[in-house]
Amino acid sequence: MHAVALADETDFEGWRRAAREMLARHVPPDALSWTTHARPDLLATDTKLPPRDDGPPAVVPRGFIVLAEAAALHCDPQRFALLYRLLWRLRQTPDLLALASDPDVAALDSMARAVHRDIHKMRAFIRFRHTRIGSADRHVAWFEPAHHILRANAPFFVRRFANMAWSILTPAASAHWDGDTLAFGPGAARADAPREDAMEALWRDYYASIFNPARLKVAAMRAEMPVRYWGNLPEARLIRPLIAQARQRTSTMIATAQTTPRQKRQRAATPAPQPEAAGSIAALREEAASCRRCPLWEHATQTVFGEGQEDTPVMFVGEQPGDQEDLKGRPFVGPAGKMFDRALAEAGIDRARAYVTNAVKHFKFVPRGKRRLHAKPNSGEVIACRFWLSREIAALRPRLIVALGATAAQSLFGRPTPVGSSRGRVTETAEAKVLVTVHPSYLLRLPDAAAQESEYERFVADLRLVRPFLEDATPAR
Ligand code: URA
Repeated sequence: MHAVALADETDFEGWRRAAREMLARHVPPDALSWTTHARPDLLATDTKLPPRDDGPPAVVPRGFIVLAEAAALHCDPQRFALLYRLLWRLRQTPDLLALASDPDVAALDSMARAVHRDIHKMRAFIRFRHTRIGSADRHVAWFEPAHHILRANAPFFVRRFANMAWSILTPAASAHWDGDTLAFGPGAARADAPREDAMEALWRDYYASIFNPARLKVAAMRAEMPVRYWGNLPEARLIRPLIAQARQRTSTMIATAQTTPRQKRQRAATPAPQPEAAGSIAALREEAASCRRCPLWEHATQTVFGEGQEDTPVMFVGEQPGDQEDLKGRPFVGPAGKMFDRALAEAGIDRARAYVTNAVKHFKFVPRGKRRLHAKPNSGEVIACRFWLSREIAALRPRLIVALGATAAQSLFGRPTPVGSSRGRVTETAEAKVLVTVHPSYLLRLPDAAAQESEYERFVADLRLVRPFLEDATPAR
């Protein structure tokens, strides 16, 4: 067993360096133990390492690095071993990350998501209290993160509170900003942070004023603001009394509703949009909203998940959302979507009876002045996003999947697939039958009207092949 000692719990760079070295020496995952400064593995013994293979270094998908960087902050002591095991396996199976059911991939994903959730909760629930240290003002917050997120999250607080001197104290480490320099120090105790300041009453008044008893959903509220954070929130001591009074206050609101002005009453009478049923696509959409599996989320407005009928036999898969889809959060609603709708109508297909999604769920673009020009997603991004497509397919179990263009075909077949030679043919795959055709935006790019006309006719002819699948309502398999 070879022991690798990282500098501390958040030493991702150290892990990368060591992992590269161990890969170059072909050291298998089960011959390694990963330790951190704070958690020495006393059982590990160091033995002589195999010689270095000076061939070209292994290529690692960028999507893996993004996930690994987050998962490395998880509190699970086995996380660095998991990351190395995945790296090792990626050499044999480059699209491993698309296999959502693989236990290592699922563990990686769940760790990365837990870390992002913790980062988000810290941003939402940290409360600074004013204090004076000597003659200087300082704001001090106490927070107990579930994972090792303080260093990763501190730059956010620097940006947010750039002009304020602050300290964040946690049990494992502390961060300090003086308006100029960010420094890190040892962990602290809750008693080191002030418990109250003059702002407490303001926080409570604010919270009481925005609390709407008629919309109270205790389970959702506990999920969003878990009880473990309450001890640190000035407003938390109001929660129980406000919940206890909610029913009474709602009855009073209903009883006094007649006095609302006429215009407001009319508006209130319009049925409010109902939340989506908690079907599995709705749950996946919610999960995917915070997807960080590849770097594309960073510049996109939002995740654009699939939509449409869920008990449909037919699913259409495009490439990625475009500019308008990115802004509206829905697939195929821009110029390519209009072309798609026209061709569907001509082929006698009701889009509302199918499910429409994309191989990649975030808009990739290059900025040109005020415009954002479409950029083709690379294989790493397609593979990273296959995770979601696989889960959509598993949830819907369609009989036919229509790949609109080469990116969709590549994602569905797991290899580059030229559209020209495979279009118009139905191919059986482990997930469903797949029909490949062109992407509607290909038609928009054709330079002359005659080519546009004839290619459009071919596209409609391909789409006509879908109709029997919609008409035959027999279950998938
Ligand atoms: N192109 C696509 O592939 N998908 C969309 O949603 C829009 C344009």
